Amino acid sequence: MSEKRIQIAPSILSADFSNVRAAVAEVEASGAQILHLDVMDGVFVPEITFGPKLVMDIRPHSDLVFDAHLMITSPESQVDAFIDAGCDYVTIHQESCIHLNRVLNRIKEKGAKCGISIVPSTPVSAITPLLDLVDLVLVMTVNPGYGGQRMIQSCLDKIVELDAMRRSEDYGYLISVDGGVNLDTIQDVVAAGADMAVAGSAFFNEVDKLTFMERMNTLAQESFRSSGR
Ligand code: DX5
Ligand code: ZN
Repeated sequence: MSEKRIQIAPSILSADFSNVRAAVAEVEASGAQILHLDVMDGVFVPEITFGPKLVMDIRPHSDLVFDAHLMITSPESQVDAFIDAGCDYVTIHQESCIHLNRVLNRIKEKGAKCGISIVPSTPVSAITPLLDLVDLVLVMTVNPGYGGQRMIQSCLDKIVELDAMRRSEDYGYLISVDGGVNLDTIQDVVAAGADMAVAGSAFFNEVDKLTFMERMNTLAQESFRSSGR
């Protein structure tokens, strides 16, 4: 029987920004296949991180799947630039603009995978009309804006709901979880039905990142077995 896996996507947000290229190399060496790129504009969330230029500059140095999480207002003005910079997934927030369908379709037209994210106060019902369109649903399990926060466990119910909906409706989206994912919470994330989990501080706080990833995967395996997924 082949092993089920959850993809752990380290977030560059918790890396040392004075040496991003080295941080990307650490992510690659850990065995991760996805790099989560947290883009913040100081308006949608309080902090400002980086734009497409940084993505463009690191793209030639990595074969990782680039997973951009746009925590920005008016994402319609930025999605082209992030795709041109080399992002494979571009995820926008339900709360960030009015014409979600248009922006998601634009991402697809440009050849990237499109994702929709919801903050803890947004119910799954707010994105139900988009579920047949998206490649990824990113469930925030903290209020976005900072790394290192504690997971809001009640948000995991939304993953259960999204997993049930994709089975009943035969939707193809992946479910990703973002916020407070670590060695203590990964099993609950897997049991809820997620395919992907973002890990920022839990990953970059570890000195031995390879061992961290192995431990996360072992815990995930246990959870797959005991939850019957
Ligand atoms: C928070 C970001 C997350 C962040 C997660 O707004 O969207 O991707 O990097 O950080 P941790 O894993 O530390 O909660
Ligand atoms: Zn994120």
